[in-house]
Amino acid sequence: MLIAAFALLFGDILVSAFTTDVPLSLTTRTSSSGLHFPLSSYQTFDDGIRPPLLRRDASWAETASLFVASHLKINASTVKFHSGYPGELAEYAYIKQHHNNISFVNAVANVAFKNGKVVAFGHSFVKPTTIAPSTPTIPIETAISAAEKALNGTYNKHPTLLEYLVQPDSSVTLIYVIQVRNREQNTWSEAFVDAHSGKFLSSINLVSSAAYLALPVFKQDPREGFDFLVNPQNSASSPLGWHNDGTRASTDTSGNNALVYFNFNPTATTAQSGLDLIFNYTQNPNISPKERVNLDAARTNAFYTVNTLHDITIKYGFTAAAFNFQQVNFLPAGKAGDRVLVSVQNSEEPDNAHFLTPPDGQSGEMALGLWGYGNLYRDSALANDVIIHEFTHGITNRMTGGGTARCLQGDESAGLGEGWSDAMADWAEQVAAPIVDFTIGSYVNGGRPIRSNPYSTSLKVNPLKYSDYLQAEHVHAIGEIWANILHNVHAALVDAGGFSQTARTDPSGSAGNVVFLHLFIDGLALQPCEPTFIFGAHKCLLWKVFASRGLGSEATDFRDSYELPTDCKF
Ligand SMILES: *[C@@H]1O[C@H](CO)[C@@H](O)[C@H](O)[C@H]1NC(C)=O
Ligand SMILES: *[C@@H]1O[C@H](CO)[C@@H](O)[C@H](O)[C@H]1NC(C)=O
Ligand SMILES: *[C@@H]1O[C@H](CO)[C@@H](O)[C@H](O)[C@H]1NC(C)=O
Ligand SMILES: *[C@@H]1O[C@H](CO)[C@@H](O)[C@H](O)[C@H]1NC(C)=O
Ligand SMILES: [Zn+2]
Repeated sequence: MLIAAFALLFGDILVSAFTTDVPLSLTTRTSSSGLHFPLSSYQTFDDGIRPPLLRRDASWAETASLFVASHLKINASTVKFHSGYPGELAEYAYIKQHHNNISFVNAVANVAFKNGKVVAFGHSFVKPTTIAPSTPTIPIETAISAAEKALNGTYNKHPTLLEYLVQPDSSVTLIYVIQVRNREQNTWSEAFVDAHSGKFLSSINLVSSAAYLALPVFKQDPREGFDFLVNPQNSASSPLGWHNDGTRASTDTSGNNALVYFNFNPTATTAQSGLDLIFNYTQNPNISPKERVNLDAARTNAFYTVNTLHDITIKYGFTAAAFNFQQVNFLPAGKAGDRVLVSVQNSEEPDNAHFLTPPDGQSGEMALGLWGYGNLYRDSALANDVIIHEFTHGITNRMTGGGTARCLQGDESAGLGEGWSDAMADWAEQVAAPIVDFTIGSYVNGGRPIRSNPYSTSLKVNPLKYSDYLQAEHVHAIGEIWANILHNVHAALVDAGGFSQTARTDPSGSAGNVVFLHLFIDGLALQPCEPTFIFGAHKCLLWKVFASRGLGSEATDFRDSYELPTDCKF
């Protein structure tokens, strides 16, 4: 919730790195549009601190403003309440820096109150070196012409504003803010023009979109067709969007959750877009995957899918506190600096893919190879089932045992890891009730399955039982047994609770696919100590599924049991 709240407070304009607290920021940073942002600082107070006492009847707005002024030791006349709202966990106030009653575009503070105390405070206020006079010396018409020329559009008659803009050297310029639109080109920006020199300084993109020609996460591979996906990022899951790593806004396949690149060079071989963040590369299956357009399509798809998995799983509990992969964590939880590094067309992984999971605080590394059959080559970066399988290794390795990434090492637990990875791909590709059979990896494998059976509720289609462990020759074979049990659990939960079409963005409710992913993720954090605790709510249903596959209440040492616990025998 706090993450969502800060996203709202900062909106699109204040990209903030919540660093440790410094009283007044003197550093700035540049966004892709050329606008400078003072570096934000952020701090939380566990027990809360009391704001300075004001009159008994003081409003929330007055109290918040006074807190900011006294905390930053600045003149109260430079601080003004902008907006606020009561949130689920706390009340939030949003305060702007002012001079002579003119607000600063890029200097704001946010204060969170709980029970009358301040529990969190962030700001990007500056200590100006110089401040331009607050009366403009050039007419607004001149400024409008400059803005229209710079942005190739037309002023849209929205009332102009006079504001202050902090420059990289902490000098403060008086600006006109002018909205310019070009409907044919689908651009709409706020231009900042110097109100003393008439010079165009920078702009903010109001359309603020990103778009990817990619395979929506519920499509398994290119055989189902690419879609043009506009703004697929979830702003609650990724408050800075997908193209900002907390210190820099990018126009390539890098951001807070993932850095996607060709082969071995993370920083130099990302896929690029224009300033508009449109990644529009059409895969051509008739030419080599190594051709530039296909490489770009592959990097785009891997970037989209890994970010989407981040945004989905954080809602179900794979959060910063649960050791997920992010450059900045927004709240003091878990270790930062560990977005996923995704190597596309990795030359050390022909016909394969892998995920390396170091402990929290170090980047997970996904390697996606090219798969070849005769003269047919397929890129696993275009196979969402493979990407999801690999990403899920990162989830299970991080969450089991508390972020150490050392708890799925033995054959049996590593086998469970393979099973969860297949099961997550299975979950993601289901689109309606009832749950249908699922085959993983057939695109990269030239149309042939890579597992022995499809995952299925039918004992004919997939006869695997718990005791088949004894014949399993490698971790993937063990994984198949577990993935098929999980497929059956998912199917039973969906039969009982229905299927939510919004499960990828909304983790609430009792639909079977929602419940399944909660059990999946929560179970990782709780295992191996108390599995019955988390399975409690669906205990009998789960026992029935487990028992149907030989994992009944008497199962032990890989001997099947079809028994149910007594309280489930009805
Ligand atoms: C605060 O700013 C106001 C307006 O500029 C000024 O009148 C006042 O003297 C300042 N107070 C202090 C303590 O500097
Ligand atoms: C400050 O500016 C606001 C509009 O932004 C205006 O309503 C208000 O009267 C101004 N106050 C002073 C003291 O000039
Ligand atoms: C400016 O916009 C027009 C359409 O309104 C377009 O035809 C033209 O190519 C644009 N120029 C540039 C440099 O983008
Ligand atoms: C994407 O590129 C194709 C050509 O490859 C073009 O026809 C299409 O209009 C582009 N879409 C967008 C939204 O830019
Ligand atoms: Zn695997």
